[in-house]
Amino acid sequence: MKISLDEKGCLNIDHSDLKNFSIHPLWLRERLNTEKYLDQNNYQRLYEPSLLDPEIKFQKYFIEDNILKVEFTDNSNGIFSLDKLNEELKSKDIIPKKKSWKNEFKELPIYDFNNLSEEKYISKLLIDFQELGFVIVKNTSAEEGTVIKFAEMFGPVRTTNFGKHFDVVSKPKANDLAYTSLGIKAHTDNPYRKPMPGIQILHCIANEAKGGDSSLVDGYAVAEHLKKEEPEMYEILTTTNVLFKFVDQDIILENYGKLIELDDSGNYVQSRFSGRLDYVPYLEPEQLESFYAARKKLYYLYESEEFELNFRLESGMLMMFDNIRVLHGRTEYDVNTGFRHLQGCYIDHDSTEGKLRRLKSNL
Ligand SMILES: [Fe+2]
Repeated sequence: MKISLDEKGCLNIDHSDLKNFSIHPLWLRERLNTEKYLDQNNYQRLYEPSLLDPEIKFQKYFIEDNILKVEFTDNSNGIFSLDKLNEELKSKDIIPKKKSWKNEFKELPIYDFNNLSEEKYISKLLIDFQELGFVIVKNTSAEEGTVIKFAEMFGPVRTTNFGKHFDVVSKPKANDLAYTSLGIKAHTDNPYRKPMPGIQILHCIANEAKGGDSSLVDGYAVAEHLKKEEPEMYEILTTTNVLFKFVDQDIILENYGKLIELDDSGNYVQSRFSGRLDYVPYLEPEQLESFYAARKKLYYLYESEEFELNFRLESGMLMMFDNIRVLHGRTEYDVNTGFRHLQGCYIDHDSTEGKLRRLKSNL
């Protein structure tokens, strides 16, 4: 394999994956990973990279068995696997990309709680979660507190003003409609928080009442659909900043955001939808009418047979879903026909992504 320096002193490797890259000496010097440069317990640098010589050059370099060996002009040296270098140069992430879905599953991503001691099984669950934005777990205990135990398999629980967990049961003078027996259409939880809770886990302790079925909708799939079919509606939904607000006796929470949020390159980032607590800003009447028409369209797509997945959580089942992508809802239930009790909590995306990276590195 040929290896050479270009006129700027950067390394060029004549390898099918690497030949388009000019590797700067300082870029590679910062990546020396032996114990002299990197704490082997925490993989953190033992020196300040800003203080390295900006004029540093490659002194020696050669490749042997797919391993690059280099020496720099400050007498440091190290080795690099070409495969690992390729992954980093191409910013390859082992976290799988989203796969949009409609209500046409042949098989739902249902996992058995009893198998969650196997790393391979958890890894598979987390891959599904990253791709689809939700998974369902069966055969959990129906005991209270199970949701916290499950959540803490992945990471710390995010406590909110609802507590470490919340009990979804019908109660008088509820500070959220979730705590009534009303049907609740597809929504994302807590869009008034900064930041919004990333992942929600809902565990079913009892679901004996008539009604109370669950639903999930892929906000990403709906956004893609709208972009293609209704570009003007998509435009207004991705550019109008809406206020979301929560009010109770103790606190008033507010945050702004688009119903479909994109990044600077126009890629989908997240959905926000909660018809019970959104406040459209002041707009000129014509623009406002366009916004309302677009929001209505979005509402109907979220509850359409094409996109909305319906199922029933029975006692001992839970669902974990990405709260900034997948909307959830439930049908009305009749408190006189039986007891319904779900417990929920929130965790961060860091937990599921971080766990998956760890597991994939182990396997
Ligand atoms: Fe909710």
